[in-house]
Amino acid sequence: MSRQMLRFTVNGVARELAVKPDAKLRKVLHDLLGLTGTKYGCGEGECGACTVLLDGEPVSACITLALDARGRKVTTIEGLAGPDGTLHPLQEAFVRGEAVQCGFCTPGMILTAKALLDRNPDPTEAEIRRALAGNLCRCTGYTGIVKAVQEAAAVMRGDKTFEPLPDYGSDVVGEPIERIGAREKVQGKTVYTADLRVPGL
Ligand code: FES
Ligand code: FES
Repeated sequence: MSRQMLRFTVNGVARELAVKPDAKLRKVLHDLLGLTGTKYGCGEGECGACTVLLDGEPVSACITLALDARGRKVTTIEGLAGPDGTLHPLQEAFVRGEAVQCGFCTPGMILTAKALLDRNPDPTEAEIRRALAGNLCRCTGYTGIVKAVQEAAAVMRGDKTFEPLPDYGSDVVGEPIERIGAREKVQGKTVYTADLRVPGL
């Protein structure tokens, strides 16, 4: 099967590479571009772990042909933080709330929530739950995720700001402390078994 040129923009950077006509977008992003925040759960468009934004709309990258992204803009979780590393309000709210446990669903969950808040800055809880219905989480029970989306929405609307984090160098007994590794998980930086590349394997 002869390869075809794919020219598209990924996280604001123009990319050009030759791909097989049947190559899926997730494989190109994860395997060829090293964007390991695009997770692989079911491979059938059911779990949402591989969600990315295509021209701002969430899609399951595991069932989207890479060539369908020709001339379009793709946003992965790696493209959400600011150039100075400042987390997007959704990422910050997920870290601070009880929205991240194993973190495997987190990139897709955050990107779906971003698409929602971009079109609806003040969604109801029911609207949040409906928007996230295609993103499955086996750990959190969703309550923390919904609260984090509400929190981020309020910050993005300018209705509130994030409280300064406690000074970890001082006595913080009794203060809320974020989950270890959550900051990496919301940026898609956490490496899982399926993300490992071992030469010869
Ligand atoms: S891995 Fe794509 S929807 Fe599950
Ligand atoms: S945090 Fe583990 S699947 Fe959602």
